Amino acid sequence: MERLPFGIKRVDDALGGGIDRETIALIAGRSGSGKTILASQWAAEGVRSGDSIIYISTTFTEKSCRTYIGEMKFMKELYDRVNWRFVRIDARYFLPMTREKIRDSSLKTIGMPLEKVDRLIFDTITDLDKALHDPVLFRTALRYFAELCHENGITAIFVEEAPMVSEWSETKNLAETIIFTDILRVPEGYARGLRILKKYRHSHPLGYIPFEITESGIETKEGWLVRKDYEFVYKK
Ligand SMILES: Nc1ncnc2c1ncn2[C@@H]1O[C@H](COP(=O)(O)OP(=O)(O)O)[C@@H](O)[C@H]1O
Ligand SMILES: [Mg+2]
Repeated sequence: MERLPFGIKRVDDALGGGIDRETIALIAGRSGSGKTILASQWAAEGVRSGDSIIYISTTFTEKSCRTYIGEMKFMKELYDRVNWRFVRIDARYFLPMTREKIRDSSLKTIGMPLEKVDRLIFDTITDLDKALHDPVLFRTALRYFAELCHENGITAIFVEEAPMVSEWSETKNLAETIIFTDILRVPEGYARGLRILKKYRHSHPLGYIPFEITESGIETKEGWLVRKDYEFVYKK
């Protein structure tokens, strides 16, 4: 199976090479933990590989995205080759909730035939959750959206704010890869860490990989972030 890397060696190694082509991945984590930068690095890698990329952002404006992500080193020369879509989600785009409605709204937002899209990033689906304000509708919308990706051979990353609005939502089941980004309390203060919670067809490490964010994006550090105290111990 073809794997689509982030271009971050330690993360790619932990994933067995990257996200499997034509599957859906989830990046979850609280605000400021590094989700958008991680997803953008994957988009930049996609451009480098010649894939066509759609990045749907519910939070950026054209200007804020260009002056933030566009200035990061990994995006140099590549920014304008990502098809950025800045949207403000309104429940009316999705209601009444039918496959056709989701398809029409997606097509309008994406603005190109779906079969021409190789990779899609939806950052963040939490805004969809908030707009719909109903866990069943949210689940249904995501499922239809995931079906569209599958039908058209699209590899997708959904980005989700944690704690989840509807807790550990449907995305957990749709996703074949789950990456969790966090800011952890350590004796010296705080440290960034990311961990893989799920990866189909691959045995992955469970610990937090420490990282920093710089103008070059995510830079992993050596070692692991591990808990000092344990709830469980082995016993003979
Ligand atoms: N150029 C930079 N240098 C250092 N840190 C940065 C830089 N740009 C962003 N960051 C850090 O990244 C954090 C945001 O990452 P982002 O991926 O946007 O988070 P989110 O998980 O909310 O999407 C910021 O709060 C900041 O700490
Ligand atoms: Mg973000």
